[in-house]
Amino acid sequence: MQGQALPGFRDSYPEELAFRNSIFATWREVARRYGFQEYDGPPLEPLELYTEKSGEEIVQQLYAFEDKGGRKVALRPEMTPTLARMVGARAQALKKPIRWFSIPQLFRYERQQRGRLREHFQLNMDIIGEAGPLADAELIAATIDIMRAFGFGPTDVQARVSDRRVLRTLLLGSGLTEAQLPTAFEVIDKSERVPGEALAEILSKVGIGQREATIVFEVAKLRSIETVSAALAKVKGGDEAGESLRTVIAALGTMGLSEFVAVDLTIVRGLAYYTGIVFELFDRGKELRAICGGGRYDNLIREIAGVDLPCVGFGMGDVVLGELLAEQRKRVEASGQLDAFLVAVGGEDVAPVLQLAAGLRDRGIAVEYALRNQPIRKQLELAAARGASRAVIIGPDERKAKVAVVRDLKTGKQRKVALTKVRKGVFQ
Ligand code: HAM
Repeated sequence: MQGQALPGFRDSYPEELAFRNSIFATWREVARRYGFQEYDGPPLEPLELYTEKSGEEIVQQLYAFEDKGGRKVALRPEMTPTLARMVGARAQALKKPIRWFSIPQLFRYERQQRGRLREHFQLNMDIIGEAGPLADAELIAATIDIMRAFGFGPTDVQARVSDRRVLRTLLLGSGLTEAQLPTAFEVIDKSERVPGEALAEILSKVGIGQREATIVFEVAKLRSIETVSAALAKVKGGDEAGESLRTVIAALGTMGLSEFVAVDLTIVRGLAYYTGIVFELFDRGKELRAICGGGRYDNLIREIAGVDLPCVGFGMGDVVLGELLAEQRKRVEASGQLDAFLVAVGGEDVAPVLQLAAGLRDRGIAVEYALRNQPIRKQLELAAARGASRAVIIGPDERKAKVAVVRDLKTGKQRKVALTKVRKGVFQ
């Protein structure tokens, strides 16, 4: 007996798949509204695509192995390096800015917990070839519009936006050294989850003194574009470093999305390649992990494909979003609604039923019939269980009269309809 799927992997029964497909449909619909084209890449990639560019965290979570040809390969844990390679390979030919989206299944060997599995599907939307902050604003707006399309409002979800350049400038301007930055970023990232003393200890280990530590904690607490701008005004290059963030926040305001957006410098993001604006979307209760995350990564295509192209994008998984949807509304009905269930009264009616089924299916009408000789009662039971709206009953008398009995399975009412009509899918 092979009892269960692997930990962190899902069997998708029809209702679950219908639910997932409804998520995909909304993702595709919003991506279309934003003028994005869909692409895909291979689920298995050369290991080195991830080991150098994505950063420690994701590398530790790789499903990596050697294939039968001795190549080191990995199941894709994220889509961004594949996208960078694909765009890099055709960089000249593609019209910029490129707006592409994809819904890959991704694999990460994570500790399984709420909102975290070992496989998930992730909508990726990326804009490539545009360095200006309106591209960043466009993608943050898209994440919000996706949530709006699912029926969520600003009391349900919030986009938290930061900029690594702002963090760098504030921290370097306050006396931290370049070498201390990664640790300061780590502490800022954890500042809402880990007690202050533990964080202070992490800082002191890399030689960040009391005064600088206080600055790190103050930076982590900045929560508006005004306070961030005021802090930036006090350090060298501050004004320039804050320009993108200011433009993004203003643009989102112009789009009428301010209520959904907060400046929050504790958003640092785990992946190594981000270079500027970074953002994450959370449920307001902050009970779940990030619904989506992304940011600007202007150097990745150069590192992977040797072409200079600025990029910004995000990934939104189906797991956290699915939990949020399940919490707030009912699950989606499984599709596969039948238009009619064909009932053969006796053995000699089976051939006419097969013929009728073939003809109706050719016309795009969804029909099913019993795959073995069964009493009418059994056939009608199956028809009801399948959710068919009607049964079309064919017996010797009906065939002689060139009619079928069409029975409405909701009301139980039935009537005779000419076979010539039924064959065309007209059931009344
Ligand atoms: P990420 O933050 O690693 O970013 O993942 C984005 C989203 O995918 C998360 O916010 C979460 O919803 C979902 N996710 C990630 N890991 C899991 C998991 N183990 N189980 C369930 N859901 C998960 C990226 O992957 C970037 N490549 C996104 C990006 C695209 N940046 C620029 N373009």
